[in-house]
Amino acid sequence: MDLFKVYPLFDIKPVRGEGCNVYDENGQAYLDLYGGHAVISIGHGHPHYIERVKAQLEALPFYSNSVQNELQEALAAKLGQVSGCENYHLFLCNSGAEANENALKLASFRNGKSKVIAFRQGFHGRTSAAVRITDNPKIVAAINEGFEVAWHELNDTSGVLESLSQGDICAVMVEGIQGIGGIYVPDPSFLKAVAAACREQDAVLILDEVQSGYGRSGAFFAFQHAGIVPGLITVAKGMGNGFPIGGVLIHPEFEAGYGMLGSTFGGSHLACAAGLAVLEVIEQERLMDNAAAVGQYLMEELRTFEQVTEVRGMGLMIGASFDFPVSALRNQLLFEEKVFTGSASCPRTLRLLPPLSLSKEEASLFLEKLHTVLKRMPQTKAV
Ligand SMILES: Cc1ncc(COP(=O)(O)O)c(C=O)c1O
Repeated sequence: MDLFKVYPLFDIKPVRGEGCNVYDENGQAYLDLYGGHAVISIGHGHPHYIERVKAQLEALPFYSNSVQNELQEALAAKLGQVSGCENYHLFLCNSGAEANENALKLASFRNGKSKVIAFRQGFHGRTSAAVRITDNPKIVAAINEGFEVAWHELNDTSGVLESLSQGDICAVMVEGIQGIGGIYVPDPSFLKAVAAACREQDAVLILDEVQSGYGRSGAFFAFQHAGIVPGLITVAKGMGNGFPIGGVLIHPEFEAGYGMLGSTFGGSHLACAAGLAVLEVIEQERLMDNAAAVGQYLMEELRTFEQVTEVRGMGLMIGASFDFPVSALRNQLLFEEKVFTGSASCPRTLRLLPPLSLSKEEASLFLEKLHTVLKRMPQTKAV
């Protein structure tokens, strides 16, 4: 059998990881400014993570959701404590799309409505409802077009309030920071106005923190910079540092009912051990503070590059726009300078999503390598 080829691949085979580096089969190190797409939160091969996951693998990796699982309780308690969202309840699943799918379903169960407000350039995953509110027609099949969507530009406060005032909106789903769209931060005043209008109109505000959560923005959740209280918060990516795990944080105004949501694998013993190890390391190593400090340093330095037209983001979720498309730059960084970086749907944006443990020295090394590549490259103005 051959693979169903849906991913364009770089010709590189990482076989091992440590801290902010991955190594190929020849022992060549690559500095990881991409974090495997914002997944590696605490760094590759963290000893505490390995120890906790190994011990759980040997003890009991999985039993079904029909028995007591104290690790789920421990994970919920720790997530509440580290995030500051202590009064929320937790539903565990396996991915970001699944978290968003369940959040949309919960919102609709609660208010009986189905129309959703979503944002241009947004991404929420590839399952049926999540992809319906993802702004990319190429990945939406006819079978996914199951409910009405009101599309708005991010930060279009008056447009969103106008849509909400019709009274037929089930949910507003917004990323804590737009990721794939190119790192666009919602205005705190926009989030505050939308949160208040959602409450008035019996609509549920869902914060997709799949990419921007788990400390990446320097706060546990990006929306916390705006001081709002969402009805539902979705998480995945950094939650397991590579172990597939996702979750929905559910405001206490939602009432649970047996059978309402479910998952075979969600919240397995092994996934919970990985999730607990991540939270313990984030707390012990003060990774949110590190993300804020190193992120600020990187953003300030990037703004001094003459080819950089704009730097957006918070913490270690950074988008740098250049005055030319960045694909050749990314290739040179990867193949010549051995640095992984990310792209965005906007071709001129370089996206940086390193492990939250990135040191200032590693950030400087990246900046040096970026300088080297830019010096070497012909100044490709826009094509
Ligand atoms: C903001 C956001 N939401 C949801 C998803 C989907 O997550 P997953 O690929 O785990 O389904 C992603 C993935 O990139 C994302 O960036």
